[in-house]
Amino acid sequence: MRDMLSELEARREKAREGGGTKRIEAQHAKGKLTARERLTVFLDEGSFEEFDMFVQHRATDFGMDQQHYPGDGVVTGWGTVNGRTVFVFAKDFTVLGGSLSEAHAEKVQKVQDLALRNRAPIIGFYDAGGARIQEGVAALGGYAEIFQRNVLASGVIPQISVIMGPCAGGDVYSPAMTDFIFMVRDTSYMFVTGPDVVKTVTNETVTAEELGGASIHTVKSSIADGAYDNDVDALLQMRRLIDFLPASNTSPVPELDYSQSVTAEDVSLDTLIPDNANKPYDIKELIRKTVDEGDFFEIQAAFAGNIVTGFGRIEGRTVGIVANQPMVLAGVLDSDASRKAARFVRFCDCFSIPVVTFVDVPGFLPGTAQEYGGLIKHGAKLLFAYAEATVPKVTVITRKAFGGAYDVMASKHLRGDINYAWPTAQIAVMGAKGASEIIHRKDAKDPEKLAAHTKAYEERFLSPFVAAERGYVDEVIMPHSTRRRVSRALAMLRNKDLENPWKKHDNIPL
Ligand code: HXC
Repeated sequence: MRDMLSELEARREKAREGGGTKRIEAQHAKGKLTARERLTVFLDEGSFEEFDMFVQHRATDFGMDQQHYPGDGVVTGWGTVNGRTVFVFAKDFTVLGGSLSEAHAEKVQKVQDLALRNRAPIIGFYDAGGARIQEGVAALGGYAEIFQRNVLASGVIPQISVIMGPCAGGDVYSPAMTDFIFMVRDTSYMFVTGPDVVKTVTNETVTAEELGGASIHTVKSSIADGAYDNDVDALLQMRRLIDFLPASNTSPVPELDYSQSVTAEDVSLDTLIPDNANKPYDIKELIRKTVDEGDFFEIQAAFAGNIVTGFGRIEGRTVGIVANQPMVLAGVLDSDASRKAARFVRFCDCFSIPVVTFVDVPGFLPGTAQEYGGLIKHGAKLLFAYAEATVPKVTVITRKAFGGAYDVMASKHLRGDINYAWPTAQIAVMGAKGASEIIHRKDAKDPEKLAAHTKAYEERFLSPFVAAERGYVDEVIMPHSTRRRVSRALAMLRNKDLENPWKKHDNIPL
């Protein structure tokens, strides 16, 4: 018996070595942790239960019969994050570059199946060179099996991808179908084809960072939802994110302790809106002053800053926040902002996370660049997302709610449950000057008359009361009471029961 136990321990030890000491050292020299070290940081201490530690590939071509590593380049299993179950897989770059063989793919599929069957989130940590070139179609088939599972799990359990090294070829499409992608700055990159292929096909010369580094995917392409300075920071932030998420679409949002009273008034909010309607202010101040302890996990902070999205908690329960940001492009809705917020609202709706919307929007961004880029279709995504969402929707208009953007931003007409406005709200088809120039075109060249028309328009429409007279705004609230009013509304909506008509699925404009 003792011999058997030592053999098991020896086999385990061999598997834990991955690609060997030299390759582990090379991994550390690049500032990266190994797959196992990453899981140790991410999961609660001692909670990791590993599967398939001894799985090996079955390939024989190109000398592969001489290259066997127990585990075959991916570490899989489950564990807990602050006591809640999560399934994990971490690509081991020290073993054949973390490349995906048929057997490696089967290990990933097994944890995907377990996560779905047991209704718990799954997180993949990527550091890999794509399909194992020596295996050919067996590796391609393995990827497609993973993709299929990603799609079936979408909207049922949260799926998160963290890119912590190379992520190329087949490895990019599984993350692309998960709910969130995060990257590590300077050490990770993602692309379908790398710089060498790009050079051959298009004659462009680019570095890996320029083609698919965190600086590109968090700012330009919006493929990634956030980036962190190093592995440890990224892993700790993923623990924080997991705390916000329900285990599945049938589980309630987690309920955490909170220390900040919801009844305390924050009088500083009474002066948040500047006297001049064209002056910006930071909507994140309102977000931080509304959520518990100011704890806000922002999604896509570096992309389309004119809209802010992220998770917070109110009375210990997760909420999704969507807010126009007057500090960036005056908070206008453009294609990027619409796509960003639409995806976020749909994530919240999948997982029964209430959506709180703060509105200060001058309208949709005019111009050929936007129209040629498909603003109609992209704007429609956000409209569609809000309109189909059945989760509790609480909206607060702080200042401008102009034109179509008024409709889109969780208005009463899109089944907003509780719609508040601050006394500073201006709800109208457009700003007073623009409106007067159109409806009083004949006076357009007479500044005095135009000013009088503008003032009359302002007095009639640029307040919350025209909308409140019609019940489009349920209540005009004091800014200092926002946290209390929003939390009361959410408490009232806890048992909200609303279903859309049966359909196979909708046909959101893509
Ligand atoms: C087999 C691979 C591999 C792969 C890397 N390795 N990628 N082995 N299949 N795909 C091996 C290397 O041979 C090397 O082995 C070790 O991993 C480390 O790789 P290096 O190249 O030394 O590391 P580095 O310089 O850091 O470069 C990493 C890399 C590069 C950028 C990822 O290895 C690379 O370009 N790999 C190939 C990427 C690729 O084209 N993949 C196939 C995509 S096609 P030794 O023994 O020398 O240490 C695809 C199709 C699926 O994925 C499509 C589905 C939709």
